[in-house]
Amino acid sequence: MMCCAYGAEKIVKETMATDGWRLAFSRPGFVTGKHDEGAPIPSGIFIRTASRSIGQTKSEDGGAQIEALVKMLDESPLAARGFDQLHVWPKDRAPIGRFGFEPGGDEVTRLVADQIFASVGEKSIRASEVNQIARPDESVLDVVLVEPSHWFVGCHTATTWPTRWPGGVQPMNPQQQPISRAYYKAAEAIVWSGFDLQPGDLAVEIGSAPGGACGRLLELGLRVIGIDPAEMDPQISEHPNYQHFQARAGDLPRKTFRGAKWMLVDSNVKPEKTLTTVANIVQNEQTKFEGLIITMKLGDYNEASQIEKWRTTVLGWGATEVKVRQLARNKCEVCFAVRV
Ligand SMILES: C[S@@+](CC[C@H](N)C(=O)[O-])C[C@H]1O[C@@H](n2cnc3c(N)ncnc32)[C@H](O)[C@@H]1O
Repeated sequence: MMCCAYGAEKIVKETMATDGWRLAFSRPGFVTGKHDEGAPIPSGIFIRTASRSIGQTKSEDGGAQIEALVKMLDESPLAARGFDQLHVWPKDRAPIGRFGFEPGGDEVTRLVADQIFASVGEKSIRASEVNQIARPDESVLDVVLVEPSHWFVGCHTATTWPTRWPGGVQPMNPQQQPISRAYYKAAEAIVWSGFDLQPGDLAVEIGSAPGGACGRLLELGLRVIGIDPAEMDPQISEHPNYQHFQARAGDLPRKTFRGAKWMLVDSNVKPEKTLTTVANIVQNEQTKFEGLIITMKLGDYNEASQIEKWRTTVLGWGATEVKVRQLARNKCEVCFAVRV
């Protein structure tokens, strides 16, 4: 069973079909498949979470649901050794950003999660709380609320960061109200990329206004250059470690980027144009970037067919590694993490 962004399920179905998985139940943001040969669970750019199915339970009566879950765990060989962690989350209810929707836990899910943990925790879960970040190699019991009255149950082993986060959504508790939702997107991208951003490093962001992502970089202690024709929030523009260029990235002299180690790109322009702008900067002798985090706006999921072409373009810059993922916080867009 897999979760993805609401709207991305068509691509998830195509991805799993290439690995021999047949479609079973699906809803926007949630897809299940069957395989005859016990294949590894599918993975791909648009697959936010993937679990091996244990079963499902549907009832308007919460007590009956818990009972069914307990029975399922008692009977499933997958649950015989218990689990290190319990993750409970809702499938996405809407496309990210529509009516302000963001992925992750909601009030109902938190209440359900507490009930589930109270009922199965002692016997089946070694963690002391529900929805903790799993450590690598830990086993995780997954409960996805497709509806509050319809739960899908599965399990996975934690490996990469997104597989360690409940529902693939990075838990974040910002100390201050972020300036924009891009704060969360940047935080997730930085961790997922594996880039070793250090306090004092110089980072450039193209498409920096109003300043959510810059806020995250400054919080991490980096020095930040923002480039955007639009104005920044004063909390950012007045920060001593921040410098703003109120311009389009392509119009600036290359020396602007001298000394920068990291580049984030989040400008609302078409991917081809983004790639041309970034290529001109990173291929210039005056620049020496180590890592690029580029948001590619798809606009429409059909544009996903272009991703491999874009990957080839980026590899042509001499990149040593190119990872691509629709982050949990990405709207209809994907994130390229490029090591150069
Ligand atoms: C999604 S917003 C960026 C949000 C921002 N990253 C944050 O953290 O708040 C996209 C921004 O791209 C900027 N933009 C569009 N074309 C640009 C270009 N050629 N160079 C720099 N910025 C550009 C727009 O002015 C807009 O502010």
